[in-house]
Amino acid sequence: MQEHLFIKKFIEGGPGPEFGNLRRAVEVGRNACHEELERSQLVGRGGAGFLTAKKWRFVRDKDNTVLICNGDEGEPGTFKDRYIMENGAFMLLEGMLISAFMLKASDVFIYIRGEYQESIEAFRRCLDDYSAELEWYRSAIDPSLDITVVIGGGAYVCGDETSLINSIEGRRPNSRIKPPYPAEKGFKDRPTIVNNIETLSNLPLIIRDGGKNFASLGVNGSRGTKLISLSGKVKNPGVYEIEMGKLSFKDIIEGFGGGMRDGKVKFVIPGGISTQVLAADELQVKVDYDSLRTVGTSLGSGAVIVADDGIDAVDVACNVADFFMRETCGICFPCKEGNRQIHYLLEQIRQGKGEKHYLELIKDVGRTACLAARCGLGQACGNLVGSLIDKFPGDFLSRISDVVNGNGGGYG
Ligand SMILES: Cc1cc2nc3c(=O)[nH]c(=O)nc-3n(C[C@H](O)[C@H](O)[C@H](O)COP(=O)(O)O)c2cc1C
Repeated sequence: MQEHLFIKKFIEGGPGPEFGNLRRAVEVGRNACHEELERSQLVGRGGAGFLTAKKWRFVRDKDNTVLICNGDEGEPGTFKDRYIMENGAFMLLEGMLISAFMLKASDVFIYIRGEYQESIEAFRRCLDDYSAELEWYRSAIDPSLDITVVIGGGAYVCGDETSLINSIEGRRPNSRIKPPYPAEKGFKDRPTIVNNIETLSNLPLIIRDGGKNFASLGVNGSRGTKLISLSGKVKNPGVYEIEMGKLSFKDIIEGFGGGMRDGKVKFVIPGGISTQVLAADELQVKVDYDSLRTVGTSLGSGAVIVADDGIDAVDVACNVADFFMRETCGICFPCKEGNRQIHYLLEQIRQGKGEKHYLELIKDVGRTACLAARCGLGQACGNLVGSLIDKFPGDFLSRISDVVNGNGGGYG
């Protein structure tokens, strides 16, 4: 089993010489750092899977850029950013400073999920512990550096980068229509880069070891390592670091997870509740962006949730639909109404009042929201539910009376 590969080793090794990687970045200069980032092929770890260097290219020639570190971590089943903040805040802070240096960003925000009191305290403590380093940065690089800790507003949608910007500005966290993207017009209309905690925590490693070394781990399209939040019915849930593309879901469940607590695997949610499930016969799929894309799903934020065969797909679908219905910001109709309809239809099925054609209707509403919603919340709300209907039709049909009574046909 692969263990303590990179991030964990760094964290467990402790802070080391005071922000040596930051000093190295300053020594070699901005251009050389950007080249290392390009070479690393680092992909953002927050869920959207966008190349970090590519995003940063949009602002490289701009002044007045704002850097925001996204620590909202609202995706159910994700708890790896919390692990970094509480165990390796020094690494995150160094990554934020290297990023601020590379982007010439004086205004830096870190938006931390409000429920994560320990993470907020750990990061604040880190700012105190490294006040001398911050002063050095201000005297040597940028006297205007300002790091603000923002406590999250308590909604899933706050993690969407445009909603998060609204939230930091003190507005209601509605998502914004894109384009313009934040890199063009973000916080107070300034060029803004939003990156996930884990993404920025990789910067010290990239500067220390070089982009080529970073990219020597992993596979094409998925370089480096990834923190996985493993939860559900495994014996050993936790945060594990894997080299991307080398292990399958089966390896992770049996190796890190120590196998199932009871029963057998029924399905796995590979990347949080916006992703399609993998059935038990798909667990050989490797954990990397492209492999998951090939089977119609995605790695998301790396929240691997394992369900056993005692779990009913209808119950899971209802819970997920309930979550999305409550968490939609309500600003766009396809998401607000679509989620209400999906939840209503699923609840009817759960209560034995559903009809067979509801199954197609649920998927259709999900597809419409995917095409028409403003942000990723609505665009992905039908993914998990639709995949449960496709892969476990029996669970749904057994609750539908016209099928149970022998009048239904076609499905399953
Ligand atoms: C509803 C919703 C919630 C999100 N929540 C988070 C989150 O908690 N943390 C995060 O880093 N990205 C989250 N994202 C993705 C962000 O919009 C954005 O893509 C990410 O912060 C960019 O960072 P990265 O390029 O380093 O991945 C969310 C997106 C959506 C649509």
